[in-house]
Amino acid sequence: MSQDQRELSAPKGTRDLLPPESWAWQSVVRLAMDTFAEAGYAPIETPIFEHTEVFERGVGEATEVVGKQMYTFLDRGERSLTLRPEGTAPVMRAVLEHNLHRGPLPIKVAYAGPMFRQERPQKGRYRQFFQVGIEAIGSDDPRVDAEVIEVGTRFYSAAGVETKLLVNSIGHQDPSCRQGYIKLLVEYLEANSSSLAPEDRERIGANPLRTFDSKEAKTKEVMAGAPVITDHLCPSCAEHFEAVRGLLADVGVGYELQPSLVRGLDYYTRTAFEWTSTNLGSQDAVGGGGRYDGLSESLGGPPLPGIGIAPGIDRIMLARQARVSEAAPVRVYVVALGDAAKGESFRLATRLRAAGIGADLDLMGRGMKGQMKDASRSGARWAVILGDDEMASGQVTLKDLGTGEQETMPSDQLEARVRS
Ligand code: HAM
Repeated sequence: MSQDQRELSAPKGTRDLLPPESWAWQSVVRLAMDTFAEAGYAPIETPIFEHTEVFERGVGEATEVVGKQMYTFLDRGERSLTLRPEGTAPVMRAVLEHNLHRGPLPIKVAYAGPMFRQERPQKGRYRQFFQVGIEAIGSDDPRVDAEVIEVGTRFYSAAGVETKLLVNSIGHQDPSCRQGYIKLLVEYLEANSSSLAPEDRERIGANPLRTFDSKEAKTKEVMAGAPVITDHLCPSCAEHFEAVRGLLADVGVGYELQPSLVRGLDYYTRTAFEWTSTNLGSQDAVGGGGRYDGLSESLGGPPLPGIGIAPGIDRIMLARQARVSEAAPVRVYVVALGDAAKGESFRLATRLRAAGIGADLDLMGRGMKGQMKDASRSGARWAVILGDDEMASGQVTLKDLGTGEQETMPSDQLEARVRS
C-alpha cells in the first residue's frame, strides 16, 4: 500500500461496520440496552473525550490503560483531553458534576458507545472498540453486586454467547484489608524475584497485583504459589463477598471463584468479575466489571460506593453462537414497472412508512427481474407490484415472497392486508 492509500484507509486498529453485519450489531446493542432498561437502568450519554485528569485520577496512573494506551492530545486551547478509554470514570464525573448523588439513590444508568485504547491490534483487540455498560452508584448492598452480575449474565445468554463467569473479591484499600495483603504479596514476589520474568520483576514496586495477569511462563509458575487476596480479606469484605455469592446462587447464576482475578483498572474494590468465552483466542474476556467504592473520592467527590459492568460488543459479535433477529426491518418492497409507476412507487413506499410499515423500493430503474432480486435481498416479506394495469385500475398486486402467492387488491387496502 502506498502512503496515500494508507492515509485514506481506516486507521490501524479501527474497523468499518458494514451491512449486513451492522444489522446484527445494532440488534445486539439494542438487546443490551433493553435488558438494562428492564432492570431500571436509564440511558446516559457522556462526551467521547474528557479532561485527561478524569482518567488519570479515576482509572489510575499506574495502570496500563492510563500509562500506555490513552489517546491524549492538546486542543487548540492547550487543554489536555483524552478520548475515553472506558466509561465508568466519565459516568462518575457526570454524577458528581450534576449532583445526582444528592437525589434518590442508587443512581442506575446504562450507556453504549465507542472507547479508545492504543493497544497492539489483534483478533478481538482494537483501538476503537464498543462497550455497553451499566453503573449502579450509591449503595454497597450486596444485592446490587448480584443484580449487575445477573443482568450481565442474562444479556450474554440472550445474545447467544456462551460465557464462563469468573468472580473474586479484592477487598478495599485499607491496611486491614488489601494493603495488608499487598505487603504479603510483595514479600513473596521479592523472595521469588529471581524466578520472575524481568518485566514482571520491575512491576513489583508499582503494581504488584498485575503480576497475576502476566503471560510469561516463568512468572505464571511463581504466581501459582502466591498468597491470594481472597484468603486475606478483612471480616467486613469477606462477609460482603459471602453475601454476594449467596445471592448469585439464589438466582441461579453459575460462576467460578477465581482468586487470582485482579482486573486492570485501579478503582476496583471488593467484588470483581469477568465473563470469558471459550470461542475466542487470547482476547477471551467478553466483559468485566466490579465495585469501585473509592472512585468518587478519587475524583474529588464524597464517599459514594458504586459497581458496574461493561460487555465488549466487538468480542461478543465474534463469540456469538445463536443469532438474534438480524433482518432489515423492511416488510414491503415496492416494484415499479414502467415510467408511470415510478412516481407512484415512491408515494406508496412513503405512505407505508408513515403507517409504520417498513418499506423499500427500486431506486435504480431496474427491470422486473432485477427488482424482484433486490426485493429478496431487502429481506422484505412482501413485494407490491405496480404495473400499467394496476395504475389504470387503482389496484396493487401483492406477492408473498416466501410462498410465491399473489393477489390483487385496491391500493387503499394494502396496509390492512399487510398488517393481517
Ligand atoms: P475492561 O475490562 O477494561 O473494563 O473492559 C470491558 C470489556 O471491554 C472487556 O472485557 C472487552 O470485552 C472490551 N474491551 C476492552 N478493551 C478492548 C479492546 N482493545 N478491543 C476490544 N474490546 C475491548 C472496563 O472498561 C470497565 N469500565 C468496566 C466496568 C464498568 N467496571 C465497572 N463498571
